[in-house]
Amino acid sequence: SAPRRERRPRRAPAAEPGPPVQAGSDWSNWSAYDRAELGFRNHWYPAVWAHEVGRKPVPVTIAGEKVVLVRDDRSGGIRGLHDRCPHRGVPLSLGRRQFPGTISCPYHGWTYDLEDGRLAAVITDGPDSPICGKISVATYPVEERLGLVFVYIGELGADGTPPPVEDDIPAELTDNTLVLGGRNEIRDGNWRFAAENGFDEGHAKYLHNTALWRLFKVMPTWNRTRIVERHGWLIRVQDEVHWEAEFPGVGSFSNKRWWKRMPLPDRPGKNGDANPVIAALDLPGFVSIRLPGILRVAYPQFIHYEWYVPVDADHVRYVQLMVRFETGWKAAAFKAKYLTAIRWLFHGQFTAQDAWMVDVMDSPPERLYRPDLSLTAWRKHVEDAGVVVQTVAGRGH
Ligand code: FES
Repeated sequence: SAPRRERRPRRAPAAEPGPPVQAGSDWSNWSAYDRAELGFRNHWYPAVWAHEVGRKPVPVTIAGEKVVLVRDDRSGGIRGLHDRCPHRGVPLSLGRRQFPGTISCPYHGWTYDLEDGRLAAVITDGPDSPICGKISVATYPVEERLGLVFVYIGELGADGTPPPVEDDIPAELTDNTLVLGGRNEIRDGNWRFAAENGFDEGHAKYLHNTALWRLFKVMPTWNRTRIVERHGWLIRVQDEVHWEAEFPGVGSFSNKRWWKRMPLPDRPGKNGDANPVIAALDLPGFVSIRLPGILRVAYPQFIHYEWYVPVDADHVRYVQLMVRFETGWKAAAFKAKYLTAIRWLFHGQFTAQDAWMVDVMDSPPERLYRPDLSLTAWRKHVEDAGVVVQTVAGRGH
């Protein structure tokens, strides 16, 4: 079945009747992936920046589940509750913070403990309301890492706890001192289109030709690609192939300039030595992807990450981080460079081109070509990983 797309701007209406659909041009080879329009359960997903969550409730939707985030004035930590009052279904994110450590529904004042979601008081039914303590709103495990709020969507273990959040964060980001800049926004399109776009080999060569970022960092242009798996990451390895070709009747084209300047962690080029943390990753290629939808683009001195967080079938939370493993003045210099240039060039204009394609593309049906090996390898990786597909019947529904 095709992913559900309701909003398709900037696209010509399909002719009726449509062209015949070729066998094998859909996603039936990857049945779990095909059904995963809302992503996967049993994973931690980044939501908003932690500094955005205070006393005022913040509603977020993750993998189709509506969650209200709020800072607990007793502990200072952030709590996550299902954003729906069990009484009559009003969003708790519209509620009031009337008593310490609680949130009160704005409609009839049912008041829930932020820690365990228990109905602690019913303001409109007196202190002896018999329903108190008998009802709870579902809670979500929440952790703060990298300046972001991570929310766990899925089942708890037998001991009532989720797996550690570190399971869903690249290890180098939890094991090292670093400085980062980032953007966090909701974009149109299903999360799988965003993930596939990130790992898509062909688009880097063509779509981003007009990106200003390319004036500073070169794009890969190879035609001999291998995909290897290492520590849960799929890594796109592009053996260096320099070619100059005559496209019959079209003209000639050379990838020489890019090929010569392409930086890799093991070949830093004109920018000097590779950062030791990045060199230690020992990456055979510079773009890699892993579950539940994290892309890593490792330059010799810094790494760009993208999280593709399913919101609903037609929206993806796109979290971009640019990370340097530095301290002191080098960290400060990077921060300044991020805010004055990288944020606008790379995390702005460059990835806006990706957002455009993710919004307008409409696949399957599809006809793949040689560089789409990256897409099929990713789908197979997901299929083989034993994922639990999220459905609208997930917890809290
Ligand atoms: Fe929430 Fe009535 S709907 S208290």
